[in-house]
Amino acid sequence: MSVVIEKVQQHYDDVADIYDSRYDRNKGRFYHAHISERVLEGMPHGGRILDLGCGTGLFLKAYEDLGGYGVGLDLSREMIRRARMRCGESEFFIGNAEVLPFADESFDAVASLMAFSYVRRPDLLLAEAYRVLKPGGRIAICTLGRNLLTTGLPAIYTMAELMRLKKIGMGDFGEYYYGRSEMQDLLARSGFSSIRISKCSFAHLNLADPLFQLARKVEPFIEERVPRLAYNILAKGVKAGSPGSPHEK
Ligand SMILES: C[S@@+](CC[C@H](N)C(=O)[O-])C[C@H]1O[C@@H](n2cnc3c(N)ncnc32)[C@H](O)[C@@H]1O
Repeated sequence: MSVVIEKVQQHYDDVADIYDSRYDRNKGRFYHAHISERVLEGMPHGGRILDLGCGTGLFLKAYEDLGGYGVGLDLSREMIRRARMRCGESEFFIGNAEVLPFADESFDAVASLMAFSYVRRPDLLLAEAYRVLKPGGRIAICTLGRNLLTTGLPAIYTMAELMRLKKIGMGDFGEYYYGRSEMQDLLARSGFSSIRISKCSFAHLNLADPLFQLARKVEPFIEERVPRLAYNILAKGVKAGSPGSPHEK
């Protein structure tokens, strides 16, 4: 395993006990639920989904609540331990999303939330996702995109690491923030078609409360009409072939 991947794994092992207090409480819960809803738009319901970098299982739990079930894969044993406690219907594996221990054409959908920026070889992850999807299967990836906010992050993360702050995501992990055309090209080169790239999230959970509420109200408008102000990038695509039975939302 590469040094950087080990570092990401160690980091998430270390913060697993505080992860849900950030993303499953108060503003963080709205923030994460919004990303999950956007990822789920157009995805099959009731099928078998694979969540890459599944963390503590927040997205898979939302998918289970809609009648589906899934498989979560993550580098961090501690994140997976919590995911197993949260999700009764799904299975979990510890591993690197660049090499999937699953059979060809075994999933109706692949999702990945807030994890793709860590991946060293996105081409390998996408090739593997394509392989394990059934014909007609769908992929949806939501990750921090390249924008004003993310330009300053590497410096902040390096400082946080020097200060030994135990804060989720705060460390020098060589994260990569993608632009729209890069995501489009990556998916196209991996064989996906019907690719749609959009932007997601304006209400950042670090905003003070009145501002956060205001940002939530205008979020749909920003995402549609002023997408450069939204900071997550959402990439969707379809594997060629006829889909199986699960219906779309
Ligand atoms: C910010 S958390 C997001 C967790 C979850 N997707 C969610 O929405 O709450 C990022 C997760 O990605 C995982 N991760 C990063 N790189 C990975 C890789 N190459 N393979 C598998 N998991 C990875 C980390 O261990 C961590 O749990």
